Amino acid sequence: MGARINGTELEWRERGSGDAVLLIHGFPLNSAMWGAQLTALSTDWRVIAPDLRGFGASELGSPDVALGMDLLARDLAGLLDHLGIERAVVCGLSMGGYVAFEFFRQFRDRVRALVLCDTRAGQDPVETQRARGTLAERVTAENTIDPVIEGLLPKLVSSRTTRRNPGVVAMVRAMMQEAAPDSVARALHSMATRADSEPLLRTIDVPTLVLVGSDDVITNRGQAEMMARGIRGARLEIVPGAGHLPPVEQPEEFNQFLNQFLDDLPANALPAPPLLAY
Ligand code: MLT
Repeated sequence: MGARINGTELEWRERGSGDAVLLIHGFPLNSAMWGAQLTALSTDWRVIAPDLRGFGASELGSPDVALGMDLLARDLAGLLDHLGIERAVVCGLSMGGYVAFEFFRQFRDRVRALVLCDTRAGQDPVETQRARGTLAERVTAENTIDPVIEGLLPKLVSSRTTRRNPGVVAMVRAMMQEAAPDSVARALHSMATRADSEPLLRTIDVPTLVLVGSDDVITNRGQAEMMARGIRGARLEIVPGAGHLPPVEQPEEFNQFLNQFLDDLPANALPAPPLLAY
């Protein structure tokens, strides 16, 4: 499905009906990574998985507009407006988590609950920012995202997935190959310059699930534990055998954790009152 949102043609996958769950993909992937969740959750929920601007079937938009997390969050708000959805459970994986934090920062009244998968709240250290800049320059100069695929793919999935499930590795590689160099270079810059969301954690006042693959080497368990400790009442679940992409590597276990969290949400939860200063 597609529509013009914030002046750009955006596409999304949608399945089911009822209260909304918004699934935000990671870098440099697209909504296809949520295939198993679109099927499993749509018996009870309206599941919406957008292609972020520049990825999947969504246009990148004007080269003059920075592809920042704030714009990606505004795109999602525009999509919810277009779909007539006031509030959604917002679930983001890795870069999708950075967008989810930004969405909460800008549109907290529209967040019914948060699911933070294999992501981190803090900013990049300076060395990582520099490395992202160098990689973005290379992608632009060589006009290919092959250097990103070579560097990132071996870290995205666990060694168990690589050994036992080559089909998943091939599927992730194919998804990465769909990403255009310009989008990838711009996303690298926007990840490197994203806001620090650590101070945001203590202000999160909606039910929150933090999920991480047991073998994730990109955003590790320690970072997930730190987020869960920082968010009042957050639930933490570890997905066994998964690396950075539990929804595709271990979809059954991931869906079980997610379904349990969704089942436990208070019906028609209203925005929580502001936190008291003790
Ligand atoms: C992702 O999976 O979205 C990226 O690995 C995030 C990152 O590079 O920080």
